[in-house]
Amino acid sequence: MSNVEAAGSAEEIRARVEKLLVGMTLAEKAGQLTQYFYFGGNESAGEWANEQSREVEVALGRGGAGSLLFVRDPAEVNRLQRLTMEGNRHGIPALFGFDVIHGFRTIFPVPLAMAASWDPPMVEQAQGVAAREARAVGIHWTFAPMVDIARDPRWGRIVEGAGEDPYLGAAMAAAQVRGFQGDHLGAPERVVAGPKHFAGYGAALGGRDYDEVNLSASEFWNVYLPPFRAAVEAGAGNVMTAYMDLDGVPATGNRWLLSEVLRGALGFDGFLVSDANAVRNLATHGFAADLTDAAVRAVKVGLDLEMAISDPAYAHLEEAVAAGSVDVEAVDACVRRVLEVKLRLGLFDQPYVDEERARSVLADPSHREVARVAARRSAVLLRNEGGLLPLSPARLGSVAVLGHLATSKRDILGPWSFEFDLEETVSILEAVQARLGPGTEVTHAPGVRPTERLFSSIFDSFPGNVPVVEEGFDDDAELARAVELAKGSDVAVVVLGEWQNLVGEQASRSSIDLPGRQLELLQAVVATGTPVVLLVMNGRPLDLRWAAEHVPAILDVWYPGTQGGTAVADLLFGDVAPGGKLPFSWPRSVGQVPVVYSHTTSHEPERQAERYWDEPSTPLYPFGFGLSYTSFAYSELVLDRSEVPAGESLVVSVKVTNTGERPGDEVVQLYVHQRHGSASRPVRELKGFRRLHLAAGEPRTVRFTLGPAELRYWSSAARDYVLDASTFDVWVGGDSTASLGTSFSTTGRGGAGSPTPG
Ligand code: BGC
Repeated sequence: MSNVEAAGSAEEIRARVEKLLVGMTLAEKAGQLTQYFYFGGNESAGEWANEQSREVEVALGRGGAGSLLFVRDPAEVNRLQRLTMEGNRHGIPALFGFDVIHGFRTIFPVPLAMAASWDPPMVEQAQGVAAREARAVGIHWTFAPMVDIARDPRWGRIVEGAGEDPYLGAAMAAAQVRGFQGDHLGAPERVVAGPKHFAGYGAALGGRDYDEVNLSASEFWNVYLPPFRAAVEAGAGNVMTAYMDLDGVPATGNRWLLSEVLRGALGFDGFLVSDANAVRNLATHGFAADLTDAAVRAVKVGLDLEMAISDPAYAHLEEAVAAGSVDVEAVDACVRRVLEVKLRLGLFDQPYVDEERARSVLADPSHREVARVAARRSAVLLRNEGGLLPLSPARLGSVAVLGHLATSKRDILGPWSFEFDLEETVSILEAVQARLGPGTEVTHAPGVRPTERLFSSIFDSFPGNVPVVEEGFDDDAELARAVELAKGSDVAVVVLGEWQNLVGEQASRSSIDLPGRQLELLQAVVATGTPVVLLVMNGRPLDLRWAAEHVPAILDVWYPGTQGGTAVADLLFGDVAPGGKLPFSWPRSVGQVPVVYSHTTSHEPERQAERYWDEPSTPLYPFGFGLSYTSFAYSELVLDRSEVPAGESLVVSVKVTNTGERPGDEVVQLYVHQRHGSASRPVRELKGFRRLHLAAGEPRTVRFTLGPAELRYWSSAARDYVLDASTFDVWVGGDSTASLGTSFSTTGRGGAGSPTPG
């Protein structure tokens, strides 16, 4: 029996909500709409954390908080839940939320890496494991997936999303919602999914986190909205607002955005939470006059839960209602949605968590296996001159594994990891040593010190989040030592990239260079003449122009998680072949940013690659790119019809053959281009993909359906979704430069085929 059934039918839940509501005072209602951070006070916590924890416990004790975030220990969940239950007359339990972004105890590759797998079923399974672990300790809801499209790698939060493309982004959004939530809200061992940050946050001006966003209507509807639509259609129970101004109005108080688009056009009927302190920020932005006005504006746009660090704006709701600034009905509408989710999750019947069971779920070894597969499937092979990879263990006498990131267990997990277990985390060096055994000499030197940030971040206070620079680290001597090790080895595996605290929230950069002296190290190692494999550990594209010409093998392993080292060894030694593909166009340099494959055609399109006079304007690696240890050929691209009446579909089929000697994975990608219409359309847009595993020599025919969902777009000219009568080019291949193509036409003019925007 599901929790929904346990909690009662929809009508029963509604009736229980109404019954609770009539007995609640305004202060109790405001409490239900308030979510506090709780970091826990203890001797080692700073004065601020202790003071804030006391404030929260006082609030819980008088029914002043309906939800908490950041509590991760099951015993603490139970203790705070008891305080909550006893603190309100109605016995309304607290909802516990947390950022379960890419795993809880078992850490999976960062979301950008998982998007590079182009494997939604795998991503769904990984987030299902994350949900299982989180729910076991008493967490009911995750602030994930982050579905913000990101086209500017200076923005540190690019690591949390699925990259530049709305179609891939929508597929990843839906897969993650299904993984977190299961097939319905309230499913056992699952958590509520909260796609964020609504909407447009990834387009921050200059890539500067939190800065304003100005989007054209076409970009908003065609690029930034589709992943949210997919997440809502997959049943997401929650949505989080964004920090920044969208076209001059703060997203968290933006009536058009939240009422007309989210609740109206997307039909979202779950509960809405603000980003941390974002309701208070309505005053900070110079939008609301003060905290009372901020609370009024937020409630009026249907913002149900205020996420607050301290001193919430919603504490002013009583006075706002008394002054007539907002109706109690508007407050009630928010309270209803919060109570409803608590009932649907079955929390009234089962508010507490089984601490014993939590321990056994977290220790489940099958979770680590899912993480290993996820890390293998996320890696992207960028270069492999002369087939240097895979390395053959039998022929290796000695390997130098270089770079601080080769041994750092905290960094391999990536940002947004808190409950990890370093004991069970496998570094790249450890895994290479374990795989090769005593017959091969494996040496290591860090080569360079971790790069220090010029400015600190909110994450610095979490234990281990800032890498420690060894005392007395002699930069020149360490670099020389690493080069000496490379000189004396059969192969050098150099692990370079960004330390995890250099990417993520509050981790935007003005450059995409390899931080510190890493390029110098790489150049010196390559100069030894020893064959070099570069492993890139990153959450954004970095400047690899030199490496792309001089380093024979480059494998992007991202931040691969708990089992990252093991998975990297599996790939290096050919137990599996890399099959990931880039979820963004990889820029040559920061000056090209933003560079996307789906730009429109303009004057002199034949000179598209020459828009700058000093450097090609094409990316270093195209969107969708990634090599394998084998090769694939595409043939027999066939359409089942060449003319399609608007509103109908056609089937595209193509034969893909593994033409090499080894098994491998290929991501078959389908792109379309509409030649003319009511607006000019991108030169190419992804409209289908499938990841296949093919044995050596194996052929497979793949079919895609193209219908109204793929062919419609939002037209700035029509100010609505349209399906134009036009001619479409279609290409299928292994990346966004695919050359095998054909064309078809659509006839007549169809409707939008989806809720029209407001
Ligand atoms: C971030 C959110 C996150 C929240 C809670 C905010 O600073 O923008 O993405 O969910 O903190 O940790």
